Amino acid sequence: MKKWWMEAVGYQIYPKSFYDTNGDGIGDLNGITNKLEYLKKLGITLIWIGPFYDSPMDDNGYDVRDFFSVAKEFGTLDDFKKLVAKAKKLDIKIILDFVLNHTSDEHQWFIESKSSINNPKRDYYIWQKGKNVDGKKMPPTNWASFFGGSAWKYDQTTDMYYMKIFSDKMPDLNWANKKVREEMASVGKWWLNLGIDGFRIDAVSHLDRAPFEDSLLDTKTVLDWNKFSNLPRVHNYLKEMNNDLFKKYDALTIGEVGGAASIDSAIEYSAFESNELSMVFNFDHNWCNNLHDIDNYNDLKTNVKALKTVFTKWQTAFEKIGWIPLNWLNHDQPRLMSQYGDSDYFKESGKMLASVRYLMRGTPFIFQGEEIGMTNYPFKEYNEFRDVSSKNYYHSIEGINEEERIFQVRKTSRDHPRTPMQWNTSKYAGFSTKEPWINVNPNYLEINVEKCLNDYDSIWYHYQRIIDLRSNPLYKDVIVYGTFEELDSRDNVYAYKRENANKCMIVVSSFTKEKEEYNLKNYEIKEVILSNYQDIKIQNNIIELRPYESVLVEVMKNE
Ligand code: GLC
Ligand code: CA
Repeated sequence: MKKWWMEAVGYQIYPKSFYDTNGDGIGDLNGITNKLEYLKKLGITLIWIGPFYDSPMDDNGYDVRDFFSVAKEFGTLDDFKKLVAKAKKLDIKIILDFVLNHTSDEHQWFIESKSSINNPKRDYYIWQKGKNVDGKKMPPTNWASFFGGSAWKYDQTTDMYYMKIFSDKMPDLNWANKKVREEMASVGKWWLNLGIDGFRIDAVSHLDRAPFEDSLLDTKTVLDWNKFSNLPRVHNYLKEMNNDLFKKYDALTIGEVGGAASIDSAIEYSAFESNELSMVFNFDHNWCNNLHDIDNYNDLKTNVKALKTVFTKWQTAFEKIGWIPLNWLNHDQPRLMSQYGDSDYFKESGKMLASVRYLMRGTPFIFQGEEIGMTNYPFKEYNEFRDVSSKNYYHSIEGINEEERIFQVRKTSRDHPRTPMQWNTSKYAGFSTKEPWINVNPNYLEINVEKCLNDYDSIWYHYQRIIDLRSNPLYKDVIVYGTFEELDSRDNVYAYKRENANKCMIVVSSFTKEKEEYNLKNYEIKEVILSNYQDIKIQNNIIELRPYESVLVEVMKNE
């Protein structure tokens, strides 16, 4: 099976932080339109735009108040239509974030739903009576939400609790209700009719819930993924949605199936035969280091073995039966360079990371700013944080001093990837003319698009070269569709082979600043196709690997 999206190269845009055109300090839809040529130059053929729907912005727009209108911060529906028209001209496809697990508590449905137990919209959401424990009112179960605290919120009007697995202002929709499913299908249809090509489907694994009984993981409030992730009825809902909507438009659909999704359940969602989703984003490779345990960033260390195991596992599992997106990180995780790169070898490690990921089988998704090597923000004070989950986390930490507390929040904060895109060296990094809604990373004078474009040796051009190879008639078939095989390699080296009937290529990458080597054994280099050094050092068929060296070579097998 071949589909247009298999050969596409995707780019994720977080609208609030991409580019501000009207000087209010907030990125907007016109900002995206304005930068489409920039993306085209990089080689991008598909963009995923984060939510820009009307919203009180408790979670930067993932809390939708009205699915059919554009938030005034982001522009107007006309702006969106212009964006679609220009993207079409440039041959760039568009997918939007489809937020279907929850709405804002300011959505009209919820306002009606909470007004009385007899309201026709009551069952659009999940309402339960509280428990009475020794005369004290308690939530229906001990389940915790992802953003801290209980997964239930008390509402006085009817003396009941509503379910909300994210923030208090994001009540969960009741997908068991057929009417909800029909409403959401019409939301999707409405946007597809405006000429978009599909969706990234937010939090899709949570649409079904276990019976409302306490988790046995703890007696206290506890985050138990199993209570609302990857449960059987999600698959029924998706098959229905696919049949009634996605299939009719031949839409590309990429589900976000966080954390607990095993490969088996990922296959259930997205194998070619599944009739549910085109692919799923997983998060297995996002935390392959000791970040959670460190007290000092100097101690951060990539677990290369874990990373290799994860990548190889996903490549292999989907080989014949499905397709996967190739992303490093997204708007919910720290920046790639700060997670797995090395600031002492900025260009080398940045390029190596790109080669490792985007020469695999699948559809690349580059997160905005990754192509210039943007890094984490050095948070020092509470009032620099914007993300609701970071703030909640801060308030939940007790018993340590302020400096340590900030450090704990900083380690995993979702604000790192959301600082403004660094376009140039002018004030506010060329993102806006006014102080932005979140601080610009002070390193923008060093790390910015303009500087990269003026330096042929920059990380940016390495991304461009990789993207170019993926569409070059000589290499496209093997890079996009070829088989994948991990080759026997050393602890800090990742080597894999991509092959089809006509070509055999090997990608060898070092994850360390120490010297390493890689023995090609019975393969002989025909041509060096891509490298992050000027030359390649090879003796007796052993490649000597300098710090973070990564090469893509075409090889022949010596029989
Ligand atoms: C997804 C999004 C995240 C958002 C959450 C709730 O995980 O990626 O940013 O906060 O869903 O919509
Ligand atoms: Ca703006």
